[in-house]
Amino acid sequence: PRPLAGKRVLITAGPTHEAIDPVRYIANRSSGKQGFAIAAAARAAGAEVVLVTGPVELDDPQGISVMRVESARDMLHRVEAALPVDVAIFAAAVADWRVASEGSQKLKKTAAGMPPLQLVENPDILATISKLKEKRPPLVIGFAAETEHLIENAKAKFARKGCDWIVANDVSPATGVMGGDRNTVHLLSREGKDVTVDSWPVMTKEEVATALVSRIAREVGTGS
Ligand code: C5P
Repeated sequence: PRPLAGKRVLITAGPTHEAIDPVRYIANRSSGKQGFAIAAAARAAGAEVVLVTGPVELDDPQGISVMRVESARDMLHRVEAALPVDVAIFAAAVADWRVASEGSQKLKKTAAGMPPLQLVENPDILATISKLKEKRPPLVIGFAAETEHLIENAKAKFARKGCDWIVANDVSPATGVMGGDRNTVHLLSREGKDVTVDSWPVMTKEEVATALVSRIAREVGTGS
């Protein structure tokens, strides 16, 4: 069965790297595994898949157009250029901040002490795409990676971002989710004004991807 045949699906994955100077950057521990698994599952379901990924050590999945980017701003540009799509899934762990002005040369130690790093906020790709007037994908899915108060924080994020579903997962170090092969997720969606929380058992990231793609197919699929 190829329930997503004829559908175009966009996925972001991995971390972003925000340059401090030519040799240093701000990053996070995202491996990209969950986003890549969703891309592969969407492809297996027959979708045309565009994967926009930050720096990860993963090979391009077969049959998928992969765009490799560094920073949040690069990622946003690639995402915007990929529209229109039927479904957009924002699994990337985008850096919230970047340095206000990237050094053109390597920052040096000076007698004056440490160089001050002034941070500015990155664009929020999920919120930007969710709030588009034209070209808003019919189904926009965000992720909420939390280390405490998972459902409460995910609900607040859901209200703020303007997306249709949120996949919430606990990424505290004890879970081994960041960089690991398993994930325990909760799918938040809306029924009228109420938020429904569907808690799935612990699964491999591939199983989570397949289950998520099945839910997507039920929502937007052709049933073919
Ligand atoms: O606010 P927070 O980063 O926790 O939100 C997580 C969700 O928002 C994820 O789906 C992530 O891909 C997306 N996001 C984004 N651009 C940002 C920050 C987060 O697309 N700058």
